[in-house]
Amino acid sequence: MDRIKITGGERLNGTICVSGAKNATLPLMIASLLSDQTLTLDNVPQLADVNILERLLRHHGVDTAHDGRRPGQDLENGDTLHLSAKNIVDTTAPYELVSKMRASFWVLGPLVARCHRARVSLPGGCAIGTRPVDLYLMVLEKLGAKLDLEDGYVVAEAPGGLVGNRISFPFVSVGATHTALMAAVLARGETVLENAACEPEVQDLGECLIKMGAKIDGLGTPTVTIQGVESLGRARHSVLPDRIETGTYAMAVAMTGGNVLLRGARADLLDAVIPVLKQAGVDLKIENDGIRVTRNGARIQPVKVDTQPYPGFPTDLQAQLMALMTVADGVSEIRETIFENRFMHVQELARFGADISLSGDQATINGVEELTGAPVMATDLRASVSLVIAGLAAEGDTFINRIYHIDRGFERIEQKLSQVGAKIERLAD
Ligand code: UD1
Repeated sequence: MDRIKITGGERLNGTICVSGAKNATLPLMIASLLSDQTLTLDNVPQLADVNILERLLRHHGVDTAHDGRRPGQDLENGDTLHLSAKNIVDTTAPYELVSKMRASFWVLGPLVARCHRARVSLPGGCAIGTRPVDLYLMVLEKLGAKLDLEDGYVVAEAPGGLVGNRISFPFVSVGATHTALMAAVLARGETVLENAACEPEVQDLGECLIKMGAKIDGLGTPTVTIQGVESLGRARHSVLPDRIETGTYAMAVAMTGGNVLLRGARADLLDAVIPVLKQAGVDLKIENDGIRVTRNGARIQPVKVDTQPYPGFPTDLQAQLMALMTVADGVSEIRETIFENRFMHVQELARFGADISLSGDQATINGVEELTGAPVMATDLRASVSLVIAGLAAEGDTFINRIYHIDRGFERIEQKLSQVGAKIERLAD
């Protein structure tokens, strides 16, 4: 199994190109199931999760094709992916494919909407809490599907097609909102979502569905209204930049010091993150082609942050912020309100010499002067990259094991970081 070796202590200087957002790409790819015409996605990141989903979509009968890269073409703009679901040949999403990535479960909504039936394995994915699927099932039931659980599979049937309804979410769920959008666009009549997720990736999916012919109002607000249509057509859509990758590299620069332009980054997607980093003593400037992150000399200042649904501070940057705060000049507090048990990085950060105590959903981080490199283990996707950030600043060598978690969500991480001066390499075992 591959490992990453980092020799810490190098400042980061130069340009890092931000990739298309993984969390937008996955639902956008799944949206291809809703139409018998081609959906073309630009700015698709090269990630293990994208490959896993492509395999599942092919299993359902979706033809997929990547535009070939030409000699001299840079890697900055991501791939172009054509998805054509002319005929759906199989409405079962098997355990072997769904268990590899939780977001695969989201095929449930569009399959039932278009084919009026689906059989989807209960998911696997990152080990960050129990992550139930009750809200997804509620969405389908509200839209008139009959559901059964058989041998670890959800079997959904709506022989006459789905019917619009009012769906009020008890709390915000990104995946359940994706599911509701993709199911309701082909349901008969009007659907109103209350307490819908406002995440930019949900808006990106909605905007693509509108290009395909869907009728959706209120995207980016908690109340979204969908008028069902008979069918959806062809569309072309460019995936929005990854705000989590942007925040991660901003925190890496904050940790090591230096001056890096995050090219392609969109500051408007990071409204809750930028003030936190500024409070920590990081200089962020919005430029024409991205965000410039600079830190010179002074120690990081401690912060107090709660994770929240968008537009609050994202849970997907909690581990990275914690890594940064391990070297702050004082005591920081981070409360995780979205996922229970999303603190697996704490024990690993302690191996670098970090001083963190946990009490329920709150972590208290006593900043230390310096971290020291250590062998550590990647646990889930975002936790893993917090170890990369810690390793970049730690004295000496860090070895990160089980890096397949990182490959799921961060495109060419060692290439991007070594281009700005980090000593980072992948070791094949
Ligand atoms: C998505 C993101 C993930 C991010 C998360 C929150 C993708 C591929 N993943 O995950 O990176 O961390 O949003 O921003 O886009 N819940 C239930 N029942 C359900 C569904 C969810 O109780 O049926 C709970 C979850 O356990 C969690 C909370 O709702 O406590 C929010 O999860 P949700 O927003 O659904 O996360 P995902 O869509 O899985």
